[in-house]
Amino acid sequence: MNSNILQLIYLVGSVSFMIGLKMLSKPDTARKGNLIAAFGMTVAIFGTIFLYENNEGMSLHNYGWIFGGLIIGSILGTLSAKKVKMTQMPEMVSLFNGMGGACAMLISAVEFTHLTHNHEIGALPQGHLLIIMLGLIIGSISFVGSLVAWGKLSGRVGDKTLKIQQVVNIGLLILILGIACYTILAGPAETVTYFYVIWGLSVLYGVLFVMPIGGADMPVVISLLNSFTGVAAAMGGFLYDNKVMLVGGILVGSAGTLLTLVMCKAMNRSLTNVLIGNFGGGSTGEASTSPSGGHIREINAGDTAILLKYANKVIIVPGYGLAVAQAQHVCHELEELLESEGVGVKYAIHPVAGRMPGHMNVLLAESNVSYDKLVEMENINPEFTTTDVVLVVGANDVVNPAAKTDPSSPIYGMPILDVENAKNIIVMKRSMKAGYAGIENELFYQPKTSMLFGDAKATLTKLVNEVKAI
Ligand code: TAP
Repeated sequence: MNSNILQLIYLVGSVSFMIGLKMLSKPDTARKGNLIAAFGMTVAIFGTIFLYENNEGMSLHNYGWIFGGLIIGSILGTLSAKKVKMTQMPEMVSLFNGMGGACAMLISAVEFTHLTHNHEIGALPQGHLLIIMLGLIIGSISFVGSLVAWGKLSGRVGDKTLKIQQVVNIGLLILILGIACYTILAGPAETVTYFYVIWGLSVLYGVLFVMPIGGADMPVVISLLNSFTGVAAAMGGFLYDNKVMLVGGILVGSAGTLLTLVMCKAMNRSLTNVLIGNFGGGSTGEASTSPSGGHIREINAGDTAILLKYANKVIIVPGYGLAVAQAQHVCHELEELLESEGVGVKYAIHPVAGRMPGHMNVLLAESNVSYDKLVEMENINPEFTTTDVVLVVGANDVVNPAAKTDPSSPIYGMPILDVENAKNIIVMKRSMKAGYAGIENELFYQPKTSMLFGDAKATLTKLVNEVKAI
């Protein structure tokens, strides 16, 4: 009876994950989707705790450990989610993803111990051993790789690459898989030793895999590691014959893989280029003349405010700098102010603006910008020709025309926002420093472009005051 109710609960949990995931694809339903998926996870956890029975009819009993872990985890999770700054979100996701990998790794270690207690070494069931090995290898890589990614994003770990890094990595991976296959198929007397060797080598591989990847590429790597965690969790689902764990793992695995590919496509780079390209963070030097000899034109907040107030149509292009400056609230204030003066204002959302998927949507949703004002790149691009002023707030690469005009540029082919088609372009940033791709931006030197230098939050606040004063 308990078992039937539990299966029903798992079904509810699985369906909630799918509905939640679907709702996460749109900003206006994302929050609810998250809650629905969290509800599914909660019922699955409590259903397991109170209704699970093994083949001998034994239920769980070590409630002290279980609830101790649940309480500590819930407190830490809630506090860190409340405290985290929007710009540190990729770091937090990385750390949490690492915890998922660690769980999968530990499940494999525990189940391996059970298996060797219950069977003679030579007679270990191969199917079971295969799943345990896969969970161990993938979980360890995901755990350690996520920690290295977290270290890189938080500036604790630098980019370190051996000259023959890729050869070492491929060799190590082949070695791990080779030992695992031998252990599963031949069942040697040293199986236990080999298990720990595979574990150690997988941990080492996790470090070597992420270490050479450019720090700025970490969001893509985290998404990839996230898919690894999903696959490792699915292995746990196989081990325990637990449907909800299996479904959850597969969903995370496939969603992580798709997200990785979508990010690569939006940056016009292959996954291989991300993994071995060491891209980004190159030149950060300043320049006031362009490579083609153009000069920049500066504008002040007063003149910008006049342009904005007397415009019919304004498009705001938010980028990573908006997140750094935490300027989303004052940006919304400026938008409302201009709208109250009869100016039509929209936001142009580039798919990889910022440093994580949906970064700009989340940021602007936080300051209650109406979702219908957030227009995706494909839909907003034809509108720039009829726009009086484009306000580029802390964006750089996503408005770099080199993506369309310079075949030698590392971002050549990346779809970008056609801001240069507008009548006036105001670029708000602190200096002439490059963005993520580390390259010059010719847009800044074009005759229609004016640079409004300063921290985005401080400058937007000035603009709000100036518009009010006109
Ligand atoms: P970026 O090209 O990184 O440019 C951001 C600009 O913001 C910088 O040039 C910087 O110039 C300025 N800035 C920084 N702090 C500021 C502040 N406090 N106030 C005002 N400006 C500030 O950003 P983007 O245009 O959003 O493009 C995103 C890039 O990240 C793309 O190349 C994309 O491929 C990459 N990427 C994105 C993702 C995802 S999923 N979104 C993942 C990985 C990589 P100053 O220093 O001069 O102020």
